[in-house]
Amino acid sequence: MGVERVRALDGVDLDIQRNEFVAIMGASGSGKSTLMNILGCLDRPSSGIYTLNGKPTHKMRAGALARVRNQEIGFIFQSFELLPRQSALKNVMLPLLYSKGMFKARKRAKNALKRVGLETRMSHRPNQLSGGQRQRVAVARALVSEPSILLADEPTGNLDSTTSSEIIALFKQLHDEGQTIIIVTHEEEVASHAQRIVRLSDGKVISDNPTAEDPLHRKFVTAMASTIQTQVQDIDQNHIPKQLDDTSTNNSTKRAHELSQETEALDASSIHTMPGTKPARGVIQP
Ligand SMILES: Nc1ncnc2c1ncn2[C@@H]1O[C@H](COP(=O)(O)OP(=O)(O)O)[C@@H](O)[C@H]1O
Ligand SMILES: [Mg+2]
Repeated sequence: MGVERVRALDGVDLDIQRNEFVAIMGASGSGKSTLMNILGCLDRPSSGIYTLNGKPTHKMRAGALARVRNQEIGFIFQSFELLPRQSALKNVMLPLLYSKGMFKARKRAKNALKRVGLETRMSHRPNQLSGGQRQRVAVARALVSEPSILLADEPTGNLDSTTSSEIIALFKQLHDEGQTIIIVTHEEEVASHAQRIVRLSDGKVISDNPTAEDPLHRKFVTAMASTIQTQVQDIDQNHIPKQLDDTSTNNSTKRAHELSQETEALDASSIHTMPGTKPARGVIQP
């Protein structure tokens, strides 16, 4: 009898560039959280190397690893993980309190809350905020230390689809401003906003493609596009513009339409450029 060894990750070889927006996908148990924990310096791989901004984190002791984590990584979780009795401002100040002191922490927290559009909600506690606003506070908290990488594990898992779209729009805005983002998600809809999709199965990377070239994702886009077509036909046949009153359907069909156009444009020009030619930011190798 013995304990069976699980290879939570096996032979993963990834190279993520500065200012990339990557979606990590895969079934439950495929190793997504294990990968995020290594990328986020919460764990070290039992073998192999992980270099973050040139720093060999696999060689670091716990204390050094924690310092790298505090400086380089901003975490966002599915369940927000805010302190319930503290205001939005205090929640966002918290990561800076020890290193920066009260005055600087407050100033930077206010700026971070402004960046996510919550300047008028700073003194609210989490239970006085909507789900989407809570997640914005969590995004501000992740941003406040100006991390190299924003790591989000299922950040829209607890949100309805309209709110989820808002949070993803916020990620896109941050990405446009230069932020490197790695997001774990089950939803193709969410992944559609990333530049690149890495799929895991049994701890292995089974595909790693620019989003518009990812075969599974293209199937999703095609299916969504045909849904739109059916709806359009519906409208034609009834000779009256049918009200698509569910905003979430509206949003996702609109996005799918955009995506199908993007994919077509990509086919037409057969551009296969990978985003980011700048030096490697984080490298993980077996
Ligand atoms: N602390 C642990 N001890 C033993 N096995 C673990 C531990 N954490 C995760 N695993 C196993 O590693 C595999 C990957 O898990 P995880 O990274 O949590 O997957 P995901 O996030 O994709 O659902 C699973 O088989 C899981 O059971
Ligand atoms: Mg997980």
